[in-house]
Amino acid sequence: MAEKKKVLMICLGNICRSPIAEAVFANIVKEKGLQDKWEVDSAALIGYHTGKSPDSRAIKTLKEKGITDYVHKARPIKKDDFNEYDWIFGMDEDNIDELERKKPSGSKAEVELLGKYDPQGDVIIRDPYYDDGSAGFHKAYEQCDRSVRAFLEKQKN
Ligand code: 4NP
Repeated sequence: MAEKKKVLMICLGNICRSPIAEAVFANIVKEKGLQDKWEVDSAALIGYHTGKSPDSRAIKTLKEKGITDYVHKARPIKKDDFNEYDWIFGMDEDNIDELERKKPSGSKAEVELLGKYDPQGDVIIRDPYYDDGSAGFHKAYEQCDRSVRAFLEKQKN
């Protein structure tokens, strides 16, 4: 069997957006029965939240969408990830700038904005961490859901 393709979701802290993106990706892969083809993880650009579970608003958003089994502990991205993963997705332009800065030259991963695949063209998945409520988390979820579905469709060709 062909090797699994590997996707790494990245945001600043790995407690809000990239865990949602990871959970959404894993859920869609499961829904489509593609578990033998795809693997996904998520990580941070900063080490500040290392070892922490996702923000409670991210967990609640996932639960409300029917994803009840997602467990993750934040970790920082490491150099090897750039050769381990086929795609590394950032959520906003700052993420991409930082990823491009960290990426060792000649490494395998393709660094892209996840929202580039959003058929509605909502390209930037903005940081909801400092928001008061969870509306930004719900919006991030919907953006991730649309983008991941379009990304996986594109890879079928
Ligand atoms: P995330 O959100 O990058 O979507 O996980 C953030 C989490 C923490 C911080 C910033 C953004 N922070 O500055 O601690």
